[in-house]
Amino acid sequence: MSSYAITGASKGIGQEFVRQLVADEANTVLAIVRNPASRDISELASKHPNLHVIKGDVTDPKSILEAASAAAAITDGKLDVLIHNSNAVDMASMGYNPSQLPFDAQAIREIFEPSFSTGIYGGLWTTNAFLPLVEKGTQKKIVHISTAMADVTFINKTGVSYAVAYSVTKAGMNVQVAKYAAELAPKGIKVLALSPGWVDTWEGEKPAEVVQADEAMLKQFQLWEPECKAQILPEESVGKCLRVIEHLDAKDSGLLLSHNGDQLTWL
Ligand SMILES: NC(=O)c1ccc[n+]([C@@H]2O[C@H](COP(=O)([O-])OP(=O)(O)OC[C@H]3O[C@@H](n4cnc5c(N)ncnc54)[C@H](OP(=O)(O)O)[C@@H]3O)[C@@H](O)[C@H]2O)c1
Repeated sequence: MSSYAITGASKGIGQEFVRQLVADEANTVLAIVRNPASRDISELASKHPNLHVIKGDVTDPKSILEAASAAAAITDGKLDVLIHNSNAVDMASMGYNPSQLPFDAQAIREIFEPSFSTGIYGGLWTTNAFLPLVEKGTQKKIVHISTAMADVTFINKTGVSYAVAYSVTKAGMNVQVAKYAAELAPKGIKVLALSPGWVDTWEGEKPAEVVQADEAMLKQFQLWEPECKAQILPEESVGKCLRVIEHLDAKDSGLLLSHNGDQLTWL
């Protein structure tokens, strides 16, 4: 019997974590979402008594502390696995190379803010809010969902020069994870940055420019993995991520691992 809390559980990879975990009735699953009334997650909760939907915004310390209190009331103050998955980006600047970023303090803050708020500050606040629960849990695992886009060797080989704020944030997340791993090792808590692969989480039909961007990215990703043909589905990504989380031990704490459990097969 294990308990899991997942942030950013309203859609995409976060929702798929919830979907796969609630299938085992022995699990207690806490879906942390900004809007608990959102259709998919409330429908899922109506079918699974082991799913609890909790309101929580990772960019608001008060909100995420309240979410941790609500979680503690459900799980008797314990949590086995925390998965910090929430992410936001400034879409308008995703395609910019670093040399195209503006000489404008306000504009640059706005470009970095969504990523930093969810990935860095959100990662800290979520981890710190749930830490007392994880300390009392049996598995003692904390996972931050990161990306190979923050791996320097991957960037160099693929030539992916855009998505600057996103990648810089996730690189910071990886360091933050290593810091937590160093601090929490004496308590037996394992902390992991986990890349889910290249996953199709687009909802509805893709506009032509997104299809075009995916095709361009595929060509670059094939420089890393020539066999890569397309994005994988959330089902495959999350199934593999859950296996990595299941096998997470002290030896891998503090690392960035792929959904395949290594530091090579990112795609
Ligand atoms: N998809 C990929 O190919 C890929 C590749 C590498 C890494 N990743 C990472 O995997 C994770 C999930 O990706 P995804 O593609 O599933 O993303 P997504 O579809 O954009 O979903 C992001 C989730 O984060 C939530 N969120 C945003 N701001 C939040 C906040 N302030 N507080 C709480 N939740 C917030 C969103 O909730 P709302 O519905 O409330 O906005 C949503 O549930 C992210 O960390 C991403 O960086 C994805």
